[in-house]
This record gives sequence, C-alpha cells and structure tokens, in this order.
Amino acid sequence: MIVNFINKKVSPNFKIFFINKDKKNLNYHNISSNSEIKKNVLNSLSKRNFKGSLGQICHIDTITDNEPQNFIFIGIGDESKLGSFNFEYFGGLLQPYLETLQYKEISFEVGGLKKVKVSNENIILNLASGIYLKSYSFKKYKKKDDENNKKLSRVSFVVSNPVKFKKLFVNFQAVADGVFFSRDLLHEPPNVLNPVNLASRAKELTKLNVKVNILDEKKMKKLGMGALLGVGMGSANPSRLITLEWNGNPSSKSPPIGLVGKGVTFDTGGYSLKPSSGMEEMKMDMGGSALVLGVMKAIALRKSKSNVVGVIGSVENMVSSNAQRPSDIVKSMSGQTIEVLNTDAEGRLVLADALWYCQEKYNVKKMINFATLTGAIIVALGNFYAGLFSNSDKLSDDLTKSGKKTDEKVWRFPLGKEYDELLNCDIADVKNITGTGGAGSITAAQFLKRFVKKDVEWAHLDIAGVTWLDKDQPLSRKGGTAFGVRLIDNYIYNNHERK
Ligand code: BES
Ligand code: MG
Ligand code: ZN
Repeated sequence: MIVNFINKKVSPNFKIFFINKDKKNLNYHNISSNSEIKKNVLNSLSKRNFKGSLGQICHIDTITDNEPQNFIFIGIGDESKLGSFNFEYFGGLLQPYLETLQYKEISFEVGGLKKVKVSNENIILNLASGIYLKSYSFKKYKKKDDENNKKLSRVSFVVSNPVKFKKLFVNFQAVADGVFFSRDLLHEPPNVLNPVNLASRAKELTKLNVKVNILDEKKMKKLGMGALLGVGMGSANPSRLITLEWNGNPSSKSPPIGLVGKGVTFDTGGYSLKPSSGMEEMKMDMGGSALVLGVMKAIALRKSKSNVVGVIGSVENMVSSNAQRPSDIVKSMSGQTIEVLNTDAEGRLVLADALWYCQEKYNVKKMINFATLTGAIIVALGNFYAGLFSNSDKLSDDLTKSGKKTDEKVWRFPLGKEYDELLNCDIADVKNITGTGGAGSITAAQFLKRFVKKDVEWAHLDIAGVTWLDKDQPLSRKGGTAFGVRLIDNYIYNNHERK
C-alpha cells in the first residue's frame, strides 16, 4: 500500500472528524451545512453509542446533493492528553476498516485541530504513518492470496502543499520500512532463515551504504568465541557473526553507538529441551537481531547523521550428537570460562561473545543489546513492556523517554551484587544459570553485565514478551511486531544525531 499526499480529492473521499469526550467536534465547525444531513449523522452517531472516547471509530456515509459523503468520526477522549503517537494509533485502528472497502484508491480530508499540542501537520503525518505501519502482512508463501479481490493500493491525504508533506513523510516511511524489514525476518520460517541466510539478508543493506561484514566459524574460532560457537555446535547450519556499520557523521571523533542483537534463528533449547507445545514460536528467537537490522535500515534510509554499529550473533540451538551438553565448560572471547548448566539459556552465551566483540572491535562507550532472552520477563511484564536493565541512569532515562514517545514501553529492573553472586561457579568463572530460581530476567542481565567493560554505558532490553504477539496490536497484525525499531530510531534521532 502506498501513502500519498495530493491537493485534489479523489472519489471516494473520507472526511475525518475528531470528537472529544464531551462529544464536541473539534476540527470542523460543522458536520454539514445541510441541516437535514447533520441531524441524520448525529442521530446515527448516538444510535451507535459513539461517545468520543479515545480510539472509538465510527464511519457514516450519506448523500448530499447527489454526491456521496463519507464521514469518519474518531474519538479523542481528553484532547489535552493527546501526543503524536495517538494519531499514529488512530491510523492503525482505521486501516483494517479501509481494507474492507472495495476501492483501489481513496482520499482523506483532515480538518485542523485546535487546542491540541500536536501540530496539524504532525496529525496528518502520524495518521498516514499509522495506516502504513498497520498495512503490513507477510504473504510471501501464500501464492493464492486473494488476487482477484480489489485491493486498496493507495491512500491519499488532501493537503494544500503536497510537496512539503511528501518530503516530511520520507522519514516516517524510512522508519516504517525498517520495521517491515524486521517483521519480514521475524516471519520467515527457520528452515529458510538460518544464520547463513540471516547474514545474506543483512548484506542487502549494503545497497543503502551500510558496511556489512560476516565472520564465519573459522574466524570466530580464531577470535576465541567459544561461548557462541558452543551453542551452534549442535546444528548442521553453521553460525555467523554479522557486523553492520553506518557512518552518517564522518567528522565526529567519538566512537559509534553499539547495537547488539541475539540472533538465535531457532531455539529448541538444546539438550535442555523445550516442551513441544509452543516450540514453533521459537523461530522468533532472532528478534534482537531483527531489531538491530530494522534500525540499521531505518537510519540508512533516512540518512541519519549518526555513527552506529550493529553486531549480531547468529546460531541455531539444536540437538544432535555434536550439540553441547549441560555441564560443558566453554571459554568466551573475553577469556572468562562458563559452565553451561542449561543449554536453553543460550542467548546469554551468544551475547557474551557478541558484546565483547563489539567493545573490542569498535571501542564503543555506549552499547545497547536486544534479546528475546527470558520467559521470566513475560511473567513479570506480560506482553506490554520490554524489560530494561542498565548500568547508566542517563541511558535508562533516555530510552524510557523514547519508549514513551513511540509507545514502545520499557520498564527498568534493578541490578546488583546480590544477584550477580548467584552466578558464581565452583569450577568455572561463571555459570549460565543460577539454579536457585527467582529473578530469572535479572540474573540473565547480570550474566550479560559480566561481559560489559566497566567504562561502557550499557543497556539490555529483554524483548521476549513483546516481539511476537498472537493478537493484533494498534500498529501491527498478529505475529512479529518489530517492537523497538521505532524506539531506538527515536533514541538515535534525539541523542546522537548531528542536527
Ligand atoms: N528464547 C528463550 C526465551 C523466550 C521465552 C523467548 C519465551 C520468547 C518467549 C531463551 O533462550 C530461554 O529459553 N530462556 C530460558 C532461560 C532459563 C533456562 C534460565 C527460559 O526463559 O526459560
Ligand atoms: Mg533457550
Ligand atoms: Zn533462546
């Protein structure tokens, strides 16, 4: 679907009204100059119990002077509380309805909203972005997909200055296309998307001037990445380490920001085998890497004036006679030895080497990692927040702020010595599970922290609960959400871009 900006309406044209909780229409003086029509419309609104509460949507069509009129009413609740993401949500709520219409193209008119902090321009751009984000679906393997149906292929907004809007929308489109890239990777089945394939998908970003480099197992062995390699050992599909470099601010002397992703293309648990029911969901265990790739694509598309590196550790966690055993001891690139007491706690092993490599190779002083790391984070936060763990109050606050702006919410958890000590091991430097139960997401983060240098500001986002959902969301269909791409893009934009 294409989102466009034009200065003449097409047929059918939909006029959008914003109605607050007092049922006041806030953007047009009048629903219609024709009092008969106005009465009818108000009547049907009250019949349909339209109260103007936040996110309520109602469509009414009628005929005026032989011309069909389509009105869309959007409830905005308390207008003083609206932020721009609310309008993105309205677009997302509207989109499935638009898809049921048998039109190829429609246009929208959106009257100016007064008494709202969000500018008129941003209202339109965010509505457009929400419609676009929600329009994503993964149909690659469904060849017979409703080809005969008339499909809505273009949504146009009527504005007085289309050129200006098209320019402004470029950034929204870039971020959404980063999100779509991320969702594509999440949906791809694991027999296709193995570590080697993930690496070649990453290579696609070369076209956008991202420098992509792939380390194979031989190179990783040379670097001493025994923790990552141990996890991949059981799979016929070889492991890969993928690095991505975006150099949008060449004159800067500071080191780049590091983004590190867990890319487990399938997690059976290994010999600490997962139950069969629900195991199919573990194709999304590369969600951290999909997030990194989505952000890299977004910032490259919008030519962000920032320097960012991505490091992805990609493995498949399988069972075979080559697979690692519970009680194996591996040596990580950092030099620390790890007793692998549970082969299903594999993400932290992969990240241990990916984090270390990121610090050694790029000398980063700020590093954020992303991982579908623990089931325990779902116990704690459900599917509504990602877990945030950090050694820096500033970095935590900045990420939390960006999460509020994009409505990809994060919640900070504590770290501390008492948790760290639970990982001490009698026969190796550290063990990969505590074995004591309790605080599973914190001790996982504590494990990662052992591979973060003292002078590096670091944050870890546990996205296990938010990356794959079995219900439609405001801006996505059921399945891969690509949670975090918009958040991190916003974080980079607000904190690390030369303006
Ligand atoms: N990939 C899982 C975590 C996960 C669970 C992601 C549910 C998405 C949804 C991870 O590798 C894992 O298995 N973690 C274990 C850790 C435990 C053995 C300490 C878990 O959460 O049970
Ligand atoms: Mg696991
Ligand atoms: Zn996993």
